[in-house]
Amino acid sequence: MDRVSNLPDELLCHVLSFLPTKSAALTSVLSKRWFNLWKLVPNLDINDSLFLHPQDGKGERQEIQRSFVDFVDRVLAMQGDSPINNFSLKCITGRVHPDIVNRWICNVLKRGVSDLSLYTHFAKDLDDYLYRLPKEMFVKLSLRNERCVDWYFRDMGSSLPMLKSLDINSDTIVCGEFEKFITSFPMLEELEMGTMKWEDFNVTVSSANLRSLSLHGSGIEGWDDFENPKSFSFDAPNLLFLNYSELVPEDYPVVNMGKLLEAHINLMVTDEQMKRVREPNHDLLEGDDEVLQFSNVVKLVNGTRNVQRLTLTSDTLEVLSQCCDSMPVFNNLKFLNVTSEEGRGWQAMPSILRNCPHLETIIIQGILHYVTDECGDVCPCISREGKGRSLKSCPVKRLEIQGFRGTMKEINMIKHFLDYFSCLNRLDVFVEDNDPTQLKNDRV
Ligand SMILES: *[C@@H]1O[C@H](CO)[C@@H](O)[C@H](O)[C@H]1NC(C)=O
Ligand SMILES: *[C@@H]1O[C@H](CO)[C@@H](O)[C@H](O)[C@H]1NC(C)=O
Ligand SMILES: *[C@@H]1O[C@H](CO)[C@@H](O)[C@H](O)[C@H]1NC(C)=O
Ligand SMILES: *[C@@H]1O[C@H](CO)[C@@H](O)[C@H](O)[C@H]1NC(C)=O
Ligand SMILES: *[C@@H]1O[C@H](CO)[C@@H](O)[C@H](O)[C@H]1NC(C)=O
Ligand SMILES: *[C@@H]1O[C@H](CO)[C@@H](O)[C@H](O)[C@H]1NC(C)=O
Repeated sequence: MDRVSNLPDELLCHVLSFLPTKSAALTSVLSKRWFNLWKLVPNLDINDSLFLHPQDGKGERQEIQRSFVDFVDRVLAMQGDSPINNFSLKCITGRVHPDIVNRWICNVLKRGVSDLSLYTHFAKDLDDYLYRLPKEMFVKLSLRNERCVDWYFRDMGSSLPMLKSLDINSDTIVCGEFEKFITSFPMLEELEMGTMKWEDFNVTVSSANLRSLSLHGSGIEGWDDFENPKSFSFDAPNLLFLNYSELVPEDYPVVNMGKLLEAHINLMVTDEQMKRVREPNHDLLEGDDEVLQFSNVVKLVNGTRNVQRLTLTSDTLEVLSQCCDSMPVFNNLKFLNVTSEEGRGWQAMPSILRNCPHLETIIIQGILHYVTDECGDVCPCISREGKGRSLKSCPVKRLEIQGFRGTMKEINMIKHFLDYFSCLNRLDVFVEDNDPTQLKNDRV
């Protein structure tokens, strides 16, 4: 023993960590030094059959069961808060209650265990319900459901304090007040939820740890008895990635996500709203018409102005036409991805392109769009003075056009881009392969 005792502490600790916990614990009765070392052993390997010996019926004796539970409790208590790497727990005699097992698991989870190995068997009389891992276990939870995920009323609605990643994909998700819902996951870094049926008038996404957020509302297909939110707030100062689709609310009272690097924004509008947005004289609209509030979208856009990569859908472009005059400067934006469709306009394009002084790449999914007076000089649809002016100042080097259908109109637009994007050195055009008839009929 003496020669062993002369070894340095770290080495002894290491040796102890390979012993089954029972033997290691025995060494602690030998001397104070061993006792102190034993407290620091970073691996525990506990096997109840070493104590309870099911084969000789000893385990049936209550005091031995209790002494096993006491032993493990004492070991854990003695180690206090010291960090732990491996925790291997074998409760195979069936005599230890699941609640006790979960209590031990929670203890090592709090101490940062990185490798947890469980081998359990519970006797029928102890386990009249299915064994449930403690909710502190869950670090990543992925949930798929065809119908409704009702987080609010089920027991899963309670707090999951260790959860870092939550991903729910369902036809419908209801979760009560969102601000409260999100406080159930204080450690959450990644959140993905769709399709939301909002129960809030004012939705607030507030989280200090959140890095990645994907949130999708049901948009136009929302149930009649669920109102769309009146306002939407983002208070997520450490968010890096946002993928957001939702009908346009009236306001964005708080938009705090200054670290955002990548945003995908899909603001959905109904055809009815679209008609009213295009009304040349907004004065004729009723005072409470929600489209009059569309200009508040500038608050959301302003909050994303530090992004490097931005994706905007065709509806979003149409909504942004309401805040062209206050478009922020996207100083870091290198990559812009826009979708376009024939029913939606490009009025916001000139002001976006003029406000991206470091843009390198543009991807346009389909270049046909609804022609208005205000697409400005970005396209040649309406001839005008100062042709191509906002393109000339744009430093974009690479343009990719997806969904090309081969119409004359598209070819004219591409020519216009080539004429006026003065820094362009690469153009890729991809033909729409889902629409071969169009290409045939309009072939040039
Ligand atoms: C637990 O200990 C028993 C008794 O020594 C042994 O038979 C069994 O293999 C051990 N179980 C595991 C999973 O190591
Ligand atoms: C911890 O567990 C892992 C995987 O089960 C194993 O590879 C490793 O050797 C264990 N470490 C110790 C010190 O027992
Ligand atoms: C929602 O927020 C608006 C202000 O943005 C406030 O006037 C209204 O009372 C709020 N509604 C609810 C139900 O909290
Ligand atoms: C954003 O979310 C939509 C809807 O769930 C999904 O189709 C799309 O792939 C997501 N985009 C990214 C970049 O994750
Ligand atoms: C954009 O945000 C900045 C910083 O939060 C603020 O100073 C500025 O007034 C905002 N601009 C608009 C148009 O909201
Ligand atoms: C560009 O946006 C479209 C539509 O939102 C999306 O499908 C595509 O994956 C995006 N491309 C990139 C490179 O982000």
